[in-house]
Amino acid sequence: MDVIRIEGGHHVSGVVKVEGAKNSALKLMAATILAPGVNTLTNVPNIADVHVMGKVLKRLGAQIEVVDEHTLSIDTSTVTSWVTPYQLVAQMRASTAVLGPLLGRFGKATVAMPGGCNIGARKIDMHILGLQALGVEFDLDHGDINATAPRGLRGDTVTLDFASVGATENLMMASVRAKGVTTIYNAAREPEIVDLANLLNEMGAKIGGAGSPVIEIEGVDELHPVTHEVVGDRIEAGTFIAMAGITGDPVEVRGFEPIHLGLVLRKYEQMGITIERERRAVRVWREGPLSSVDIQTLPFPGFPTDMQAQTMCLLALGSGSCIVTENVFENRFMFASELQRMGADIRIEGHHAIVHGVSGFSGAEVKSPDLRGGAALVMAGLVADGTTVVSDIYHIDRGYERFVEKLQALGAHVERTSVPDANVL
Ligand code: EPZ
Repeated sequence: MDVIRIEGGHHVSGVVKVEGAKNSALKLMAATILAPGVNTLTNVPNIADVHVMGKVLKRLGAQIEVVDEHTLSIDTSTVTSWVTPYQLVAQMRASTAVLGPLLGRFGKATVAMPGGCNIGARKIDMHILGLQALGVEFDLDHGDINATAPRGLRGDTVTLDFASVGATENLMMASVRAKGVTTIYNAAREPEIVDLANLLNEMGAKIGGAGSPVIEIEGVDELHPVTHEVVGDRIEAGTFIAMAGITGDPVEVRGFEPIHLGLVLRKYEQMGITIERERRAVRVWREGPLSSVDIQTLPFPGFPTDMQAQTMCLLALGSGSCIVTENVFENRFMFASELQRMGADIRIEGHHAIVHGVSGFSGAEVKSPDLRGGAALVMAGLVADGTTVVSDIYHIDRGYERFVEKLQALGAHVERTSVPDANVL
């Protein structure tokens, strides 16, 4: 199996450019189902999850040309199926993002019920309730969700229990083809939602309010293919910003909008990290000690849950104590138990992690619990005493393109190696 081996204590500085946002690209790819013809997406990250979404679209009948490493040409005029198989949905929960577009195009969809994952149950009850308001009927048959709109999709008002990113996206992508107007209250406000709304409007949709808690969608009869650039990945950017914060060395992070990390950057400045903002870049370094500040994750513009692990890594070396509260997922502290193997002093109490800063980490063998926790463990290894070996790095490959190469270009002593699988005797 592949592992990432990090030798701590080396300077990490220079310039890194982040890719297009994973959490936008996957939905934009799904949305091309709504616009039969050749759609071109640029600034697409070359990551495992994008490859899986490509398989899903091809299974539905789409033809995909990799124009270059970051440009996909997706012809959905040949999409004839509305059935996504379990093995692809099981590989990636985000495959459920085809539910809305398939309903919008065909008035029906069969999507495998997604299982849970390491960070939580990942239910889709809000997707289902919202789509039912638009006239969709569901039945669960042997693990598959069969969705139909026997009387067609009709616009209505939907109020989400929680500002769910996925539910907001599926509702937007179904309602663009509904008869009449749909209003979503308590909609998710993430920059990736705005990117999706922009793509749909470029296709001919009539969506207003994306980025606010109230999104209004006036249904249209048809959508046409477009060319669209994926928004920069604010979480990949935040991950490299956190790395500069933990090592203290100057790093310039390019290719994203700093405003998309507003609260994160403000919290990091409170922690003693210096951040110079530019239009699509930041310069980050730290001279003094890391201060401890309380963090609680919330839907955007609150503190993003996808930056929780990276930030807890910083706080674990803080000069005091603090509380990290995870309000979005029910089980997103597994990273903390791995970090404790490296010497962190963290006590978990339900949704709260009480973090007492320590003077340093010691290198250890640790296991990546999920995508962001894995990146954060590599980050801890950069400043740990000795060598850290991170396994289960397939999580990291899902969302970070050339992660090791980017760190090596910044001067980190990091390598990806294969080791015999200890479980295979
Ligand atoms: C998206 O997941 C992102 N994934 C996640 O990023 C991100 O953490 C999350 O939004 C929150 O920002 C993609 O975009 C592919 P939610 P999503 O619907 O859409 C519960 C990463 O590391 N919920 O906002 O699944 C759900 O279980 C990943 O890049 C329901 O209970 O997030 C979770 O606890 C991790 N019922 C919470 O709401 C529903 O119908 C937030 O989920 C839907 C969600």
